[in-house]
Amino acid sequence: VSVQGVAERVMAWQASHGRHHLPWQNSRDPYRVWLSEIMLQQTQVRTVLEYYACFLARFPDVGALAKAPRDEVMGLWSGLGYYSRARNLHRCAQQVMAEHGGAFPNTAEALATLPGIGRSTAGAIAAFCFSERVPILDANARRVLTRLSGFARDLASAGNERLLWELAQSLLPTRDLAQTMPRYTQGLMDLGASLCTAQAPRCSLCPLTGSCVAFRDGAPERYPVRTRK
Ligand code: ADE
Repeated sequence: VSVQGVAERVMAWQASHGRHHLPWQNSRDPYRVWLSEIMLQQTQVRTVLEYYACFLARFPDVGALAKAPRDEVMGLWSGLGYYSRARNLHRCAQQVMAEHGGAFPNTAEALATLPGIGRSTAGAIAAFCFSERVPILDANARRVLTRLSGFARDLASAGNERLLWELAQSLLPTRDLAQTMPRYTQGLMDLGASLCTAQAPRCSLCPLTGSCVAFRDGAPERYPVRTRK
């Protein structure tokens, strides 16, 4: 099956089976998308929902967050865990105000220079908000893509990690990017969260089984391969 077929099937599946009503979806406001992606980095959607609503109510825009006292930000974050995220969140907001005139940069490359925004989070924000043709490679996308391609190299190696990013890039949609980049990106996240799970993946419901190397070999749980953290 062609490379292009993969993106099309991910998007068709997302349209009919993916998530559509999360509060940060259907927004192209980088502040809202950024806030959600930082919270979702190490925390489940179910838990994030309440915190996300509280943050937006108290800090409706990046300027309000930047001006808030550190202690108030940390207090609102309390319970979400991984507190370096909250410190970086605050520093990032201040940097957006001081160095970018209050507007988030509109490319993944520039976003990735900000505190707390790694390459995958930068890709997600750029794809959702600006329809930039850039990949994500969070834990969900990593499972989907390593299984699909039978990527058996050890991701503890930076070179192999780079190869997987190149693979992710090669599978991106090529048409109508304004429409397709947000849907494809969300589709990879949703596939990884609901079907292509770490344990007991539900391959019988997956739109990609026809091209999935791990499915063909009967060993999806073998992927991704990583010898150390
Ligand atoms: N996890 C990370 N980003 C997400 C998103 N946009 N929707 C659902 N889960 C996510």
